[in-house]
Amino acid sequence: MLPEHIVRSISFVRAMCSLSSWFTGQVGDGRENALLEHVRQTSAKGDPQSVLQAADAYSQRTWFMNVGNEKGALVDAAVRDRNPKVALELGTYCGYSAVRISSQFQQPESLLISIEKSPPNAEIAKQIIDHAGLSSKCEVLQGTLTKRVQDVKDILKKFDQQFIDFVFLDHAKEFYLSDYLLLKNEHLIGPGTVIVADNMGFPGSPKFWKYLKNAEELETVSHKCTLEYISWVRDTVAVSTYKSGF
Ligand SMILES: C[S@@+](CC[C@H](N)C(=O)[O-])C[C@H]1O[C@@H](n2cnc3c(N)ncnc32)[C@H](O)[C@@H]1O
Repeated sequence: MLPEHIVRSISFVRAMCSLSSWFTGQVGDGRENALLEHVRQTSAKGDPQSVLQAADAYSQRTWFMNVGNEKGALVDAAVRDRNPKVALELGTYCGYSAVRISSQFQQPESLLISIEKSPPNAEIAKQIIDHAGLSSKCEVLQGTLTKRVQDVKDILKKFDQQFIDFVFLDHAKEFYLSDYLLLKNEHLIGPGTVIVADNMGFPGSPKFWKYLKNAEELETVSHKCTLEYISWVRDTVAVSTYKSGF
């Protein structure tokens, strides 16, 4: 039997070459449904840590585009520091980062809105989040930010909040900048909002990087790390804070 890291690397390369994921958000070999089954069978219901451990364990042989443990710890720390009441994630996939983010909430009423374009991924994520016991802290909306922006506004209104406190960008890299600008132009983000952008190193989001480097309203710290579950690919997570006075 081949060593685990070789099997995982082959699985990663296959996922990178998958045409299906461009259209469906899934790799095309059923791995996302298999992850759901694995999580259900091997983790304790109502226990987010157990769910994350099960997902990470399954990702040792089959590669997944979950944020993973190393970058996940950076996301956890940013959530804890900001202590959000309303958080937004773009790109739910199977719900791994949604479980991480919502399990870090310190306020009982906090909510994560997670937007996922792919209908099957949104369904899988809802089931994994439910298994983790976090359905009341995490609302998965199927679609894109453009299509669901009114729902985001309605939720903020219910919370009597002007701005989203925390945003995690982890969807199609070519939409990082336009979706950031949509949030900004709609005044859904503002002073105090923390924006975490995954995959700024690989596969990268050059337009958003360029914007971050010149944006007067943002103060950005970048964290060098490796790609989820693949130690030979370098990645960067950017953590930006929206400054006051803009
Ligand atoms: C890298 S995965 C997200 C991983 C997830 N955040 C995690 O760490 O568990 C990217 C996801 O974004 C979804 N996606 C792609 N374009 C999108 C868009 N414009 N809006 C929302 N989701 C999108 C894909 O279907 C895919 O499920």
